[in-house]
Amino acid sequence: MPIPAHSLRQRSWSFTRTAAVALSTASAVAFVPVAADAAAGTLGAAAAQSGRYFGTAVAAGRLGDSQYTGILDREFNMITPENEMKWDTIEPSRNGFNFGPGDQIVNHARSHNQRMRGHTLMWYQQLPNWVKSIGDANTARSVMNSHINGVMSHYRGQIYAWDVVNEAFEDGGSGQQRSWVFRNLLGTGFIEEAFRAARTADPAAKLCYNDYNIEDWNAAKTQGVYRMVQDFRNRGVPIDCVGFQSHFGNGGPPGSFQTTLTNFAALGVEVQLTELDIAQAGTTQYANTTKACMAVPKCGGMTTWGIRDSDSWRSGDNPLLFDRSGNKKAAYDSVLSALNSGGDPNPGGPVQTGVNYRMVGSQSGKLADIYGASTAAGAVLIQWSSNSGLNQQFDFVDSGSGYYRVRARHSNLVLQVTSNNSGADITQQADSNAASQQWLVTDRGNGAYSLTNKQSGLALSVLNSSTADGAHISQSTYAGSANQLFQLQRA
Ligand code: XIL
Repeated sequence: MPIPAHSLRQRSWSFTRTAAVALSTASAVAFVPVAADAAAGTLGAAAAQSGRYFGTAVAAGRLGDSQYTGILDREFNMITPENEMKWDTIEPSRNGFNFGPGDQIVNHARSHNQRMRGHTLMWYQQLPNWVKSIGDANTARSVMNSHINGVMSHYRGQIYAWDVVNEAFEDGGSGQQRSWVFRNLLGTGFIEEAFRAARTADPAAKLCYNDYNIEDWNAAKTQGVYRMVQDFRNRGVPIDCVGFQSHFGNGGPPGSFQTTLTNFAALGVEVQLTELDIAQAGTTQYANTTKACMAVPKCGGMTTWGIRDSDSWRSGDNPLLFDRSGNKKAAYDSVLSALNSGGDPNPGGPVQTGVNYRMVGSQSGKLADIYGASTAAGAVLIQWSSNSGLNQQFDFVDSGSGYYRVRARHSNLVLQVTSNNSGADITQQADSNAASQQWLVTDRGNGAYSLTNKQSGLALSVLNSSTADGAHISQSTYAGSANQLFQLQRA
């Protein structure tokens, strides 16, 4: 199925707290009791309980190490290529793209149901000499645009979020952008140009600004980045997220870290911890960092910059969650428990309104999808492999008493049962808030939900428990089986 280049975007977020779901309101439905707060045993599963991800940087060269991939695939559900998508690797000569190493990582992620953060398009380091030596604005502009377009087009639909611009602000007290080829030839507006080019190249990817030493709210650098993001949001420049690298010394995060995350989130962007490592990996320091994210509803997830200490770019600091033999360190336990206990950003209500979700079938790992990305009323709901298409993203519209309409992001139409029969199709239709369009969303634990229709009393179910692309997502009596459970992932 081709991925449509939709232009529709809904990025005005509101975090209305939704009403608690009273299980008793659906007496017709046979509920299987599940302890929604049962602790999860891996970082990825624990983060998923609140719709967040837990990621790591991955080096393509280590994918042959089975201890490494064993931990990777057990614990992490988001991957950032450590070096493979940087300019010197991916476009070593002008318009001469080298996607092999990046593709290796993306292929691994796809086959293990992991999502990808793209890293990074515009950065002053790991920049080839042919770029550094550009001497005029016209060439700089054209090279920047073709780099962004070339790389993002290759990975279109496969990247959850891109670090469009990395580390553009200077350290110290100036709060200004650093000097480098694009800033010097195009002016500080190069960042805006880069984000606009990125939106066109892959409209479904979240576009992030990423930097280090912006975790302390009082730092001039933080304030400089904040002013830029505020200005972008005010003027409609497309920016969706800010990445806080979070490379910390042994003291851990600054005391104001949560304030910083909250203040950026208030600008309407998602915040993410993108390259976390902490010298000596103190348990309190890691727990505090994790809690800061968990306390901010728009903190979408966190990524450590490597798996084992031996994989780290600052290996001598032993800054990661696994030791050189692949054993969990004490910091691992402190992070896991912070993920498990601080979990639900919306206690008592399973979903947030104003947030885009992907609904991942617990059995198939495939996504709820409006067939063919059709925008027509009557198009049917199927499952399909993840492709970041906007026809795989839904938000919830509150109908009261724990019921919601489920609205497809690409069409603005809502899911409706076509009859009360088990096995009947679900289609998208114009929103009338009819009972046939209202779904009781029930938290079944570990980030999984069931959706039961108010009119039919039947639960969303992948037909015949199929795991194939194209299988219809239909309805049947809720029995707690895996084809009736969907992981709600923030899109
Ligand atoms: C680092 C990698 O981990 C190293 O392997 C490489 O030699 C240098 O870059 N900020 C970033 C990351 O955005 O891309 C950097 O990664 C670490 C600092």
